[in-house]
Amino acid sequence: MQIFIDSADIDDIKDAAAMGLVDGVTTNPSLIAKSGRTLEEVINDIVEIVDGPISAEVISTDCDGMLEEGRKLAKIHENIVVKVPLIAEGLKAVQIFTKEGIRTNVTLCFSPTQAMLAAKAGATYISPFLGRVDDISGEGMELLEQIITIYRNYDMTTQVLAASIRHPLHVVQAALLGSDVATLPHKVIHQLLKHPLTDRGLEQFLADAKKSG
Ligand code: E4P
Repeated sequence: MQIFIDSADIDDIKDAAAMGLVDGVTTNPSLIAKSGRTLEEVINDIVEIVDGPISAEVISTDCDGMLEEGRKLAKIHENIVVKVPLIAEGLKAVQIFTKEGIRTNVTLCFSPTQAMLAAKAGATYISPFLGRVDDISGEGMELLEQIITIYRNYDMTTQVLAASIRHPLHVVQAALLGSDVATLPHKVIHQLLKHPLTDRGLEQFLADAKKSG
């Protein structure tokens, strides 16, 4: 499973990339707003740090507006993937982007039927929001499983990108289901590597090393 970082914080992206585990980056308008910078500024920095797919989201809600924004974003760097919301106008735009060779990440997916339509439209990635489904007492993992099964049944080539990941268990479950990608907040990346026995073992080794040294 590929690991993307879900962030617009340049320090966090640099930190995760330095560990060699960032295959790509996803951003969204909320993350960009949190950074206090423009989308273009953030994306221009990210392309210098990560050599992999970088999702940049359009904010228009009509097909023409999405096409205009997406084409501009795609020109910034060949690694840019245009992120499009899962609405009818979005799917129209995805079809056109696909014909133009511009890769897309269809976002805000909350049902298997939405995922089927995104694949039909030619999406490169589909982003089911697991955490947000859990937040309303749904089963985010069930959604992921349904999408993966449907795509496999029909050899649909759209890659499944597990999004809105909140904790390490989401990552393990997504990997067990065979998700192509999981996009993780910086905090979750660090939670993945943390283990109390590692810390305790290291502490002991260092203490013992002092005795012999
Ligand atoms: C995905 O691409 C989104 O940016 C993100 O995963 C949303 O996560 P949230 O529900 O924690 O905001």
